[in-house]
Amino acid sequence: MTQLLEHIKEAVLQISKELKFPDTSYLSGQNKTGDTQLKLDVKSDQIITEILSKCPSLKALISEEKEEALELNANAKFIVAYDPLDGSSLVDVNFAVGSIFAIYEQKASAKALKAAVYSIYGPRLELVICEDLPRLYRLNSQNEFEFIKELRLENKGKLNSTGGTQKNWSKEHKAFIQSLFDEGYRLRYSGAMVSDLHQILCKGGGLFSYPATSDAPRGKLRAFFEVFPFAYIFEKAGGKSSNGENLSLLELEFDEIHATTPCFFGSNYEISKLLKADQ
Ligand code: AHG
Ligand code: MN
Ligand code: MN
Repeated sequence: MTQLLEHIKEAVLQISKELKFPDTSYLSGQNKTGDTQLKLDVKSDQIITEILSKCPSLKALISEEKEEALELNANAKFIVAYDPLDGSSLVDVNFAVGSIFAIYEQKASAKALKAAVYSIYGPRLELVICEDLPRLYRLNSQNEFEFIKELRLENKGKLNSTGGTQKNWSKEHKAFIQSLFDEGYRLRYSGAMVSDLHQILCKGGGLFSYPATSDAPRGKLRAFFEVFPFAYIFEKAGGKSSNGENLSLLELEFDEIHATTPCFFGSNYEISKLLKADQ
């Protein structure tokens, strides 16, 4: 694991350098879930593939930007599923974006998650590594990731980060989101889940939701490299996750590597309220 985390750090540093000189011209290709790929998505994917392929403990790589899994060392222990650049449509407006990594043992399944990692390319380069607990690291002037603190969620937060086109929400979801605003929650939503979820973790609580919508009944966010790693991090931080029906996103199973699911991540209060509400 230590060796794999060192490879991830190296990849993140390299992506951060690429982002400092962005080229946002579009490629004609589309990825599996239909998004137009930016060159930076592809570059970030190439960087991660090149660096992580050198890690002997890696059995396979699953990427948002690759249709199929890339098989590496058949007898190795870990499978890494990753979103090389999350929030890539925000690069041109210079918002914070990130990379997300889920580390599975032997099998890509939520129950086989051993660690989750994400980076934030913002004014500072930050990295959150979660095995038993999410730990925040920040790049210092010596080019090393310095430990800052453990991230823990309070029982209840103040932020409401609401994804999906509102006109396509169910009336139950609309009523639930409104009930949080009526309690005093504030809207915070950038369009990069990595930044929106990082804000909730750093501020101690709140809710991030990306529900089933009439145009995307199975949600938008991808299970293996977006939803499971953040569900793992939120639960280890003392919060909860849900797909709106089950108790935890980590109970879900999918066969398709690009499968999507409605998802909710939050502190205890908001997720308990969600499970009591009509959805
Ligand atoms: P990506 O850039 O990897 O395609 O991911 C974008 C995702 C997620 O980060 C974000 O929360 C969501 O898409 C935003 O979607 P909407 O614009 O529909 O809110
Ligand atoms: Mn993403
Ligand atoms: Mn992406």
